[in-house]
Amino acid sequence: MGAPDTSMADPINGKKIALGVTGSIACYKAVDLASKLVQAGAAVDVIMTQSAAEFVTPLTFTAITHRPVVRDMFEPQSEMGMDHVAVAHRADLVIVAPATAHTLAKIAWGLSNDALMTTLLATQASVIIAPAMDANMFDHPATRRNVELLRSWGYRIAGPTEGRLASGLTGRGRMLETWEILGHAREILGRNGDLAGLKVVVSAGGTREPVDPVRLVTNRSSGKMGHAVAEAARDRGANAVLVSAAESIHHPVGVRVERVDTAEQMRNAVIEECSNADMLVMAAAVGDWRPATVANRKLKKGPSDSWSIELTKNPDILAGVKSEGLIKIGFAAESENLLANARDKLLEKGLHLIAANDITDPDSGFAVETNRVTLLDREGVVEELPLMTKYEVAHHLLDRAAPMLPKRHEE
Ligand code: PMT
Repeated sequence: MGAPDTSMADPINGKKIALGVTGSIACYKAVDLASKLVQAGAAVDVIMTQSAAEFVTPLTFTAITHRPVVRDMFEPQSEMGMDHVAVAHRADLVIVAPATAHTLAKIAWGLSNDALMTTLLATQASVIIAPAMDANMFDHPATRRNVELLRSWGYRIAGPTEGRLASGLTGRGRMLETWEILGHAREILGRNGDLAGLKVVVSAGGTREPVDPVRLVTNRSSGKMGHAVAEAARDRGANAVLVSAAESIHHPVGVRVERVDTAEQMRNAVIEECSNADMLVMAAAVGDWRPATVANRKLKKGPSDSWSIELTKNPDILAGVKSEGLIKIGFAAESENLLANARDKLLEKGLHLIAANDITDPDSGFAVETNRVTLLDREGVVEELPLMTKYEVAHHLLDRAAPMLPKRHEE
């Protein structure tokens, strides 16, 4: 098997996205959003209101998108001058970011006095609205009513979130960060993907076993690999559930997250979630051992120069989870005999597929953004993948797993 065409896996890739930018200080974030959309392979038509152009110049967006920025419907030479609904009709997705209170009100009233409003009225595509404004403005009954009205029409209202605002005050009015808006875009664009209607449970992170109220037995897993698998499953339309022991990593948009600490908590959550799931991907680094007893007070150092803790074995989650109607995928974190050890785990744990990663490779395994894995299946097929991002690894894994799903899902 050749190297995967990984860029094709991102649902943003190849899409036509209209990005409406309205007059808020958060316009600077829209520049980053436009850039990330282009990097992900989208053709981005930026539509700016007059007030947006007071904050950021159209040239900034043109330089990033390599396309003309739409500002005026009445310029005879412009595309919109010739066909005022051209952008609306070709867009796969419309994003308004930032969306001011004024813009929300105009949408709610169905006004169409500029290029953005005309596009919003004429498009059949999904619309994401990312509000940005002063917290009191967002809290005003008029804005709240407008937001609810838009939501009831099927618009995706993404944010705002709590945080520091341009006024210097803290409150709810801050536009979402780029990665969050991209998460909404991917979820929407990928919803009819090959895993649509299926439940995919993914575990992530290193389990944390308490010794006493201060100390833990844990490992170096950051949760990045598991989170990437959950995002990739979401981006193919799955109902993705993440059972995560990861501490310092954002919860992905559109993925339900069950937070756990210990291996036992992870096992209980995985077993419960798998009762009606179609696929389980165990990317978590589950501690094989836990302290036999947990002290409820901080253990004192004492005079001795050594200290031993008695450990007891944790249950094997993969081996214990139901097998009927569930595609089970594991990871093998190895520092030697990569393929032989991975093959043993595949068979012992009754897996359909296992991704073996060499954790001694600095580009691979724990905490880094990339991974180099070899996939092994029950039929003895061994597929060595090149170094790629964890999101790309995740898609490749799902490419292999999707055909293993029972036929009923193809109907
Ligand atoms: O989180 P990151 O920083 O991104 O790092 C990613 C990773 C290196 C953690 C990931 O790519 C990985 O290799 N995950 C599996 C780590 C591991 O625990 O491997 P293992 O060889 O010990 O276990 C084999 C499989 O059995 C794994 O799928 C594991 O989740 C599962 N297992 C292990 C122990 C246990 N008690 N129950 C299990 O189900």
